[in-house]
Amino acid sequence: MNLEAIRNDFPILKTQCAGRDVVYFDNAATTQKPLPVLQAAFEYSTHSNGNPHRGAHIFAIAASEAYDGSKETVRRFLNARSTREIIYTRNTTESLNLVARSYGETHLKQGDKILITIAEHHSDLVTWQRVAHKTGAALEYIYVDKETGHFLPEDLKKIDDPAVKIFAFAEVSNVLGIHFDPKPLIERAHAHGAVVVLDGAQSAPHRKVDVQDLDCDFFAFSGHKMCAADGIGVLYGREELLNDMEPFLLGGDMIDLVEEQETRFAELPAKFEAGTQYVEGAVSLEAAIRYVEAIGFDAIREQEQKLVRRTLEGMQQIPHIRIIGPKDPAEKEGLVAFTVKDVHPHDVAQILSAEGICIRTGHHCAEPLHRYLGINASCRASFYFYNTEEEVDYFLEKLKGVRPMMGYGD
Ligand code: ALA
Repeated sequence: MNLEAIRNDFPILKTQCAGRDVVYFDNAATTQKPLPVLQAAFEYSTHSNGNPHRGAHIFAIAASEAYDGSKETVRRFLNARSTREIIYTRNTTESLNLVARSYGETHLKQGDKILITIAEHHSDLVTWQRVAHKTGAALEYIYVDKETGHFLPEDLKKIDDPAVKIFAFAEVSNVLGIHFDPKPLIERAHAHGAVVVLDGAQSAPHRKVDVQDLDCDFFAFSGHKMCAADGIGVLYGREELLNDMEPFLLGGDMIDLVEEQETRFAELPAKFEAGTQYVEGAVSLEAAIRYVEAIGFDAIREQEQKLVRRTLEGMQQIPHIRIIGPKDPAEKEGLVAFTVKDVHPHDVAQILSAEGICIRTGHHCAEPLHRYLGINASCRASFYFYNTEEEVDYFLEKLKGVRPMMGYGD
């Protein structure tokens, strides 16, 4: 991997802050966009912009071709059987809301159970809370070991309960950084017919996903966490399940026939894509997938592992840093959440920001996990393939200075 050439594709990384190039370590929230992705979107908007599926003129046709064509790239990226199984949404959150609303609320009843984990992002937790409240189904949790971040083995037995109708979890936790190997968990849930929903927001940008091999029922991810525009996300759904679901939004392009009192809905995937579609976003996502694939997931993993290893080793030398989740770099998927004793995470982030370092602070939309771990908030450094070891060293040097700056000895 030619890191220098890659970084030249990201002019934003040359933004000057505190007298040097900015250090962008908030990639689990949003990644930066390389020139080929920006150019693809620009090219579309300057040569092909139109409203897809609705007109006979050249721009409407070009927009339809761009939009529908991008689906084939996404299908291939996930190894879905058909583009009918690829629904565009705004982001992972909207994809998970779609499943919760259109599947959960109509297929669950009192006596059923929804199983999630304590490590879920709110988009995979608040959604299922509402399904539970509306249907009378019970919401149960798999808890994690507070030190290692691994699922508690006795809690995994909950998957085998035949009352569990939905099992939803994130393949990679956005706080623990841990990758929960989904395949055996999916097999276990499928043994009694539960539907499995995978939140792939933090996995799809970093590792190969094969929905047929995983045999998951739904898989959600966001474009903006893998170099594409904000506002384009994907829901993969097994075709027979999608066919059996009510549309999420109603309106233009999702219909086959509309009469005064009744409507016949369009076939997949249009049934779930009401309203004017975000074609520029779809073009951007297609270009981002191509960009990421050209680098390759092996090279991405190698670079992220270097960064995570250096970060964890460095943090272990700094007194009063608590690393959240596993400490073994091999178990971290490109992110490290941590706290600095006696210093509020917001203060840590502000002090680092003044040095040109961007990290995330707060509960990272995982409030129940933070409460379970006995903390209100944490800091998080999250990497992508364009980050460097030199940036990690600079970050560690400045992190070391946080407590002294706040008046502590070390
Ligand atoms: N879900 C994003 C994060 O974890 C926003 O930061």
